[in-house]
Amino acid sequence: MSTVEKPKGGLEDVVATSSRICFLDGDRGVLAYCGHDIHDLARNATFEETCYLLWHGRLPNRAELGDLQTQLAVARPLPEPILRLMKMLPPSDGMDALRTLTSALGHYDPDAHDNSAPASYRKAVRLTGQIASLVATWGRMQEGGGPIAPDPVLGHAANFLYMLFGRRPNPTEIRAMDIALTLHADHELNASTFAARVAAATLTDMHSAIVAGIGTLKGPLHGGANAEVMKMLIEIGQDAPAERIDALVKGKFARKEKISGFGHRVYNTEDPRATHLRRMSKELGQKAGNTRWFEMSERIEALVKGEKKLFPNVDFYSASTYYTMGIAIDLYTPIFAVSRVSGWTAHVLEQLANNRLIRPRADYTGPAYPQTWIPLDQR
Ligand SMILES: CC(C)(COP(=O)(O)OP(=O)(O)OC[C@H]1O[C@@H](n2cnc3c(N)ncnc32)[C@H](O)[C@@H]1OP(=O)(O)O)[C@@H](O)C(=O)NCCC(=O)NCCS
Repeated sequence: MSTVEKPKGGLEDVVATSSRICFLDGDRGVLAYCGHDIHDLARNATFEETCYLLWHGRLPNRAELGDLQTQLAVARPLPEPILRLMKMLPPSDGMDALRTLTSALGHYDPDAHDNSAPASYRKAVRLTGQIASLVATWGRMQEGGGPIAPDPVLGHAANFLYMLFGRRPNPTEIRAMDIALTLHADHELNASTFAARVAAATLTDMHSAIVAGIGTLKGPLHGGANAEVMKMLIEIGQDAPAERIDALVKGKFARKEKISGFGHRVYNTEDPRATHLRRMSKELGQKAGNTRWFEMSERIEALVKGEKKLFPNVDFYSASTYYTMGIAIDLYTPIFAVSRVSGWTAHVLEQLANNRLIRPRADYTGPAYPQTWIPLDQR
């Protein structure tokens, strides 16, 4: 092939694969996992049911759910050398730590280099259990606490909060975390999932594919946006008058800076995940007796909608939701990964089940071919 068709920037609207996992309609604001509407899942599902749905394409019955809960509980304790490595890392960005530690987990995984379907599934479950433990333990150690052993009796959301806070979470906190994890679990060919699928398609190992996903999620145009939102809210200050909020947002417009937590490549209407996170931000704020972060967020939303016709995405209200739950800002993007590992692994399993190397073309725009070779002493 001597010429290739010019793509839109950022592969916009390019259909790069077929998938049975996630249905997205950006004009109607529809998101569904294996046909199940995200609103139904947010209202009813636990994260474990969501994982099963993504990995198997259908909801589990009681026995199947029980089996998965047991497998996740078995996966949660971290290998001792991983805890030692965690202690050796310098205080750093949570996503940097997660990237390094997830890669290191591959050294201790009994199925590390087995790409068969049963081994890949075991790794999907194991990584989902372990990444939650990594993030909770990292978060705890950053606050000066010691690692807490997982409690096999607790569900995934409850155990994550228990290992992070070092106390039993209350039902409201558990439900909020379950909903947040369910909402973030998958999103079709978002940048990190695409990266994971591209890696998997080379027939590399599952850990390498998930590390590709983590590194991609970290960026502020993707999962890193939730932490940026909270930094912006704190910069404004919770006691700031409305004029200060307006001035900061309008200043960003004037400098043509992007406002984290707004806009989306696919949605031209409200991101259905934002609907739930907005409600959670408000309800948790009311329960905590401080709705200020929610109110500031609402004002920013009104300004951005009015001026730029942009809607909040999943990252905007997750910021104030997590902050109200007392979670450190550095953990917001790692928590995205705690959830999204379910979607990444589902896509890797799907890719491996019907694999072909992903190798697109580039539209060449360099110097004309052929260039004349000039010897070094004549250049
Ligand atoms: C999500 C995002 C990367 C999608 O990017 P994209 O599809 O490539 O869209 P573009 O960056 O080309 O933006 C299209 C237009 O909307 C504007 N825009 C998009 N998001 C914006 C934002 N958050 N704030 C202000 N303007 C924004 C762009 O400046 C651009 O305007 P222009 O055409 O006048 O230059 C983008 O909306 C963004 O950077 N948002 C902030 C980061 C974020 O929240 N990411 C999490 C996504 S879930």
